[in-house]
Amino acid sequence: MAGIGVVVAILVTLVAVLIPWLPTSASEQMDRIEFVYWFATVICIGIFALVSAVIIYSVMAFRAQPDDETDGPPIHGHTGLEVVWTIVPAVLVVAIGIVSAVVLSQNGDAGTNPYRIKVFAQQFAWRFEYPDAKGLKSSELVLPLGRSVRFEMESADVIHSFWIPQMGQKQDLVPGLRTSIVVTPKREGTFSLVCTELCGLGHATMRAPVRVLGQAAFDAWVKERQSGDSGGDPGAATFASAGCGGCHAFAPAGSKGGVGPALDGLAASAGKAGQPLAAYAKQSIVEPNAVVAAGFAAGVMPQNYGASLSAAQVDALVRYLTGAKE
Ligand code: CUA
Repeated sequence: MAGIGVVVAILVTLVAVLIPWLPTSASEQMDRIEFVYWFATVICIGIFALVSAVIIYSVMAFRAQPDDETDGPPIHGHTGLEVVWTIVPAVLVVAIGIVSAVVLSQNGDAGTNPYRIKVFAQQFAWRFEYPDAKGLKSSELVLPLGRSVRFEMESADVIHSFWIPQMGQKQDLVPGLRTSIVVTPKREGTFSLVCTELCGLGHATMRAPVRVLGQAAFDAWVKERQSGDSGGDPGAATFASAGCGGCHAFAPAGSKGGVGPALDGLAASAGKAGQPLAAYAKQSIVEPNAVVAAGFAAGVMPQNYGASLSAAQVDALVRYLTGAKE
């Protein structure tokens, strides 16, 4: 019986170790989550091997002969065995609970001086603001290596969920609540932030690029973005910060979103609607249900841009989309 147990344990261990079930960790929190995963997996492999060994051995050793139709001997409990199979699992479950609680607490601890980044989610885009860098706005999430980052998160409409698979941590963004989560990136690289809460038609495309840079490169990026923000096209900046590209393809912005109609043929659409181009573009931003492009559904585009964008931003966006000069 012991031999069967050892063989099963080896086979299951190979399945656990040889198949890359988890992505390569990129944060200190993911390291701890992996530890919990392996802690529970080792216990499970042990129990699985034990149970399999007993079952396989019993099936082989106590099989009834083909012509044997008598009942087996009556069996009535075994106090010792029952005490063991109650206490051992209880101890194991409590141990997993304690290890998980310790890791949960450590993963929620941002230390005394976290780097703060605000995360805003709305159907179907992410936006980021860096209060520690004079409120720098970005549609790409750039993180400093080795520093604990505390994300403070808000949703403008429905429930979304923040997850960078290689960094482990996951947290919902709930309208009306401010949720937070801590990530300490431990290697440089390019990753992807994905929304993991079904939030509407564009859920599957609700992603944002994530880059982890060394402290010097991170500081350089902040500096470059801060100087670039003042000199760039305000319409292009609004297009990026409002996340328009998450849903709309627009050649000048290089965006390829397919949730909403492409914005390169606005003049033709305005002609079809019988409206002047600029007025049509503005209406489509602040009152998206007024004219809905063929093949797309009403009510998908957020209807709050008239409130969430300033009048100057809307005007800049209209000029950018219509190709008008200032
Ligand atoms: Cu946002 Cu799914």
